[in-house]
Amino acid sequence: MTSSRLKGFRDVQVANIGENTLILRSRTWERLKFEVEYSRQKGTTANSYLIQADKKAVIDPPGESFTGIYLQQLQEQLDISTLDYIILGHVNPNREVTLRELLSLALGATVICSRPAANALKSAFPEWEGRIQAVRFADTLDLGQKHQLSFYTVPTPRWPDGLCTYDPATQILYTDKFFGAHICEDALFDQDWKKLDPERHYFFECLHAPQAKQVEAALDKLAVLTARCYAPGHGPVVLYSLSRFTYDYRKWCQAQKSQDLKVAVLYTSAYGSTASLAHAIAQGLIENNVSVESINCEVADPVDISGVVEACDGFIIGSPTLGGHPPTQIQTALGIVLSRAAKTKLVGVFGSYGWSGEAIDLIAGKLKDANYSFGCETIRVRFSPTVEALEQCQAAGASFAQNLKKTKKLRTFRRVASEAKINRTEQAVGRIIGSLCVVSTRDLDSHQGILTSWVSQATFNPPGIMIAISQEQNADLMGEPGEQFVLNILEENRDLRRYFGGQSRIGENPFTHLGTKTADNGCLILTEALAYLECTVTNILECGDRYLIYAVVDQGEVLELNGVTAVEHRKSGGCY
Ligand SMILES: Cc1cc2nc3c(=O)[nH]c(=O)nc-3n(C[C@H](O)[C@H](O)[C@H](O)COP(=O)(O)O)c2cc1C
Repeated sequence: MTSSRLKGFRDVQVANIGENTLILRSRTWERLKFEVEYSRQKGTTANSYLIQADKKAVIDPPGESFTGIYLQQLQEQLDISTLDYIILGHVNPNREVTLRELLSLALGATVICSRPAANALKSAFPEWEGRIQAVRFADTLDLGQKHQLSFYTVPTPRWPDGLCTYDPATQILYTDKFFGAHICEDALFDQDWKKLDPERHYFFECLHAPQAKQVEAALDKLAVLTARCYAPGHGPVVLYSLSRFTYDYRKWCQAQKSQDLKVAVLYTSAYGSTASLAHAIAQGLIENNVSVESINCEVADPVDISGVVEACDGFIIGSPTLGGHPPTQIQTALGIVLSRAAKTKLVGVFGSYGWSGEAIDLIAGKLKDANYSFGCETIRVRFSPTVEALEQCQAAGASFAQNLKKTKKLRTFRRVASEAKINRTEQAVGRIIGSLCVVSTRDLDSHQGILTSWVSQATFNPPGIMIAISQEQNADLMGEPGEQFVLNILEENRDLRRYFGGQSRIGENPFTHLGTKTADNGCLILTEALAYLECTVTNILECGDRYLIYAVVDQGEVLELNGVTAVEHRKSGGCY
């Protein structure tokens, strides 16, 4: 055993990795933190970088475990008081400790970070507010000698403030949380990259698999750069396996999306404890081949939350208790869940609390009252989780995954059995397909939207269409000759139908959350539709349980030239 591997030993390795560019790797051979991503116990490195051109910039100073040795080593490389910029890929309370020291030593230095990071830092360091500068996507900063840095905001649920930095002089892309690994070795670079595969994959599974959608978006943004080297926040610098590693990230993201079962983990966390529980639960699910979509409700759009909870097979909600309640964002998310998520989905609840944990009980109680089945025990953890608490969360994630698989098997069996019973004629009728449309009608200021796929062209001259509509669909606003409506023809993959899924009632406005404009006939056009037709009813025929409405097309327009019509595929002609 070398001295460097003795218990408790830490150092900072310094090396040149490009013109005017040093890496300062704060190293530990021990498990640095209790979070799941460190559980392979291979140590880690907290990588910081120093560019010394006409201006001097440090990128990503480490967390407080390394503050002292890092600053000492940095001082050996330059006079810290001459530092011009401190660039941050993300912020957290741990990193703020080193940052505070650095800012008080480098009084002329400006902090460069994303807007969410700047907001967090301004409340942590109100005295230095004027020294914190937020950058936007593709902003640049010239350090001289061709080091014209450019910045790329890459928000994810776990790091909403994520920022990557590219230096064209060295073609180094500073990737912070992307392309890292928790492993500590003397090798600076990845020449032995095959050996790194397990650590790299584990790092991805723990940190990025639950946010694969946002990781893919970040990869797309960074793909335009001609990077020859990735300089990550942890582990070896990526030089020899850059294309392979990028391809791996794409492949691992795809693998997440192609899993049969998907669970949404919705949480907020004021101080990070509930977030740690969320990550551990996600890990338990992922290890059991269930794809996870992590939603940090603090930064998520309610429309996105709604889409994810409708599409997932189960969801788990995590909340801290603050002032006897869940934070507002969790209350909003719970409202969305209760109104939109089918009762057949499995659910779970977790949270960190201080003394009574009312938020956890409230969420669990509401879900129970709404008749959801629980896929794992409710997890309550006081303040910061211990290693044991995180293991309990991982186990809960695993048990949720197993229960989900059992439920799915049972449902598939029941569905196959019931499908076999469906009348064959109905099955055959169900194979008739129609384009998915929203008919919008108007009664003074009240607008209605009716989802239907029972539409077809009926005449050429004049151009006319036929719609079959039931009484329950509130078709009375198109029930008389002369009445007018707009037929919004939906586009594939836009998922607008969910806004019109239930039966619309007079007085309700299902268009509130959607882009609309008013047609000449006063009804609403969905601006995200593929095309629309303004129509006037001319004939109505009562047949069976439907009215057949024949309407003449007054005018129309295609809104998305390259789009494809959304089509309704059914298994039975006995229901929609
Ligand atoms: C302003 C404030 C109010 C709190 N109110 C409660 C409370 O009413 N009940 C409780 O059990 N814990 C309460 N706590 C403790 C938090 O729930 C606890 O610190 C928890 O670990 C926070 O989780 P987080 O790190 O995920 O934000 C409160 C904490 C703060 C800072």
